[in-house]
Amino acid sequence: MKKFNIALDGPSGAGKSSIADQLAEIYQMKHLDTGAMYRAISWLLNQEKIDPENDLAIENALKSAVLDLPEDGRVIINGIDVSEIIRTPEVSMLASLYASKAPVRQKMVELQQKIASRQGFIVDGRDICDVVLPDALVKIYLDASADARAKRRYLQDLENGKSVEYEEVLRQIEQRDYQDRHRAISPLKISDQAVVIDSSQLNIEQTVAKACEVVNERLKKE
Ligand code: DC
Repeated sequence: MKKFNIALDGPSGAGKSSIADQLAEIYQMKHLDTGAMYRAISWLLNQEKIDPENDLAIENALKSAVLDLPEDGRVIINGIDVSEIIRTPEVSMLASLYASKAPVRQKMVELQQKIASRQGFIVDGRDICDVVLPDALVKIYLDASADARAKRRYLQDLENGKSVEYEEVLRQIEQRDYQDRHRAISPLKISDQAVVIDSSQLNIEQTVAKACEVVNERLKKE
């Protein structure tokens, strides 16, 4: 079968990464986690103390930034393995901030389009259906209520031995949702062309099954 791309958008904590990993295995595709790219770049800009309000300074810093995404899932920027540090709540907030800036989005979109031009990618993010891959064969918006997303993250954190307050996790999710939905450039929204899957009441297996239905339905029409 001819190679194709899947665009997967949705808010933070909806389970996009886990679903994308499983779809990648089922359909023998590669998973491109664009959130990890924004996180790594934002971590670097913050390390270099680049003012988020200074587009020129951002542009200059981005010129020398080299992002490496090996197939084992690690995220390396300028030779530094940032796979773990980019998952902290601090970097989540930084990513949401720097991702609203034009030079950052321009560089990331360019890079994502170049990678996915080989086809065979499941790309997850916020602006994939309409901006990054408007020609993707399959477009899905994975949704879940803020409460369901916060509960999952809270339980995950507890499992990983972190002491967290549920209210704080919910507050951070709602704050990031607000920033991602209200920024001027490419805000998070449901694409007219996407099939919406609401995973609030579904476990991972049920969500993957729904996503497979969407993909298979689309493939039948090819
Ligand atoms: O998916 P994530 O939580 O790892 O994403 C981190 C931040 O990056 C998120 O707050 C918004 C931003 N992002 C974006 O603006 N566009 C994308 N395609 C992916 C992520």
